Order: sequence, then C-alpha cells, then structure tokens
Amino acid sequence: MPSPPTAVDQSTYRQVLGRFATGVTLVTGTDPETDTPCALVANSFTSVSIDPPLISFCAGLGSTTWPRLRRSGSFVVNVLGEHHEEICRAIVGKHPDSLELLFDAPKGVSGAPMLPEALAWIECEIETIHEAGDHELVIGRVSDLRVADERAPLVFYNGKFVRLSQSGG
Ligand SMILES: Cc1cc2nc3c(=O)[nH]c(=O)nc-3n(C[C@H](O)[C@H](O)[C@H](O)COP(=O)(O)O)c2cc1C
Repeated sequence: MPSPPTAVDQSTYRQVLGRFATGVTLVTGTDPETDTPCALVANSFTSVSIDPPLISFCAGLGSTTWPRLRRSGSFVVNVLGEHHEEICRAIVGKHPDSLELLFDAPKGVSGAPMLPEALAWIECEIETIHEAGDHELVIGRVSDLRVADERAPLVFYNGKFVRLSQSGG
C-alpha cells in the first residue's frame, strides 16, 4: 500500500521527486559579453515535441549561468555519461578549473561549446521562456543533433549519482 498523502513541504517534495530517476545533462553556451564558455548541470531536461523539434529544461532563478546562456540566445544540451561524474561534480561545486575543457572544445553552429565525449549533443535556439515558480521553463528549438557511440549514461536518483548496474533491487 502506498503511504497516505503528505503535506507539500520542501523536504517531502525533494524526497518524492527524487524517486524519479533522470539522466544528467550539461547545458553549455558562450557568454556573448565575455566570449567565454558557461555551463549549467541540469537533470530537468526533457524532450517536448518532434514536429517542430522542441526540448526543455528548467533554470533556477538563482543560477548565475542561466542569464549568460539566455543572452547568448542559444545553447547545447550535452548528455552526460558515467565518465563525466567528476567533471559534473566540479561544475556544480563551482571548482575554478571546472570549465577548462570547454575552452578548447569544438563548437556548434551557434558557437556554444560541445562537451568532449558526451553521449549526445542537442543544439538549440531559445524558443520561449515561461515563469515557473522558483525556476524558468526554457523551451529550445533544436537546430542540430549529434550522437556518439553508446556508453553508460550518468543517472541521478534519490539525490545521488548511480550506476545503472547498481540501481536495481
Ligand atoms: C544532478 C543535478 C541536477 C541539476 N539540475 C538542475 C536543473 O535542472 N536546473 C537548474 O537550474 N539547476 C540544476 N542543478 C543545479 C545547478 O547545476 C547549479 O549547481 C545551480 O543552479 C547553480 O547555478 P550556477 O552555477 O549557474 O550559479 C542541478 C544540480 C545537480 C547536481
């Protein structure tokens, strides 16, 4: 039997929503003011529409990276693999060297950096932005898509990075 409904406090929300396993992406762009790479780890990424091709992610209002991505007007969603866990943690922890590998990375048509060894790259123009509580819901129109050889994805579940092989049971 499921537990009875609980009040929607923040820790309950986190605990309950954490039971929804997601992939992890790195949303990258080039800040037009400084001409430097910027990146935001996001597990809120999802596909929205095939025709026209649209995707979305949610950007926290407190994010320092989102305003930079927003003013560039475009971004690349880099799908992370297990092998990106360390760099992912470094970017979330704002380690000073964490964006180093984006400086020399290949760029998409819009100029946004493409993370080396990502599982897939989805390049987008910002289509619309919707207010959504303490986040903004960003709809991106896909302008280019690329896929790499299949490798194990980085998975976020219950507030932790997990390996697909260890998440069962
Ligand atoms: C697994 C994981 C998923 C995250 N997903 C999102 C997300 O979807 N949207 C978001 O704004 N921040 C997300 N964050 C937090 C950001 O990556 C980032 O740490 C925070 O927004 C600070 O943003 P800033 O580096 O742009 O200042 C996530 C963090 C982790 C560890």
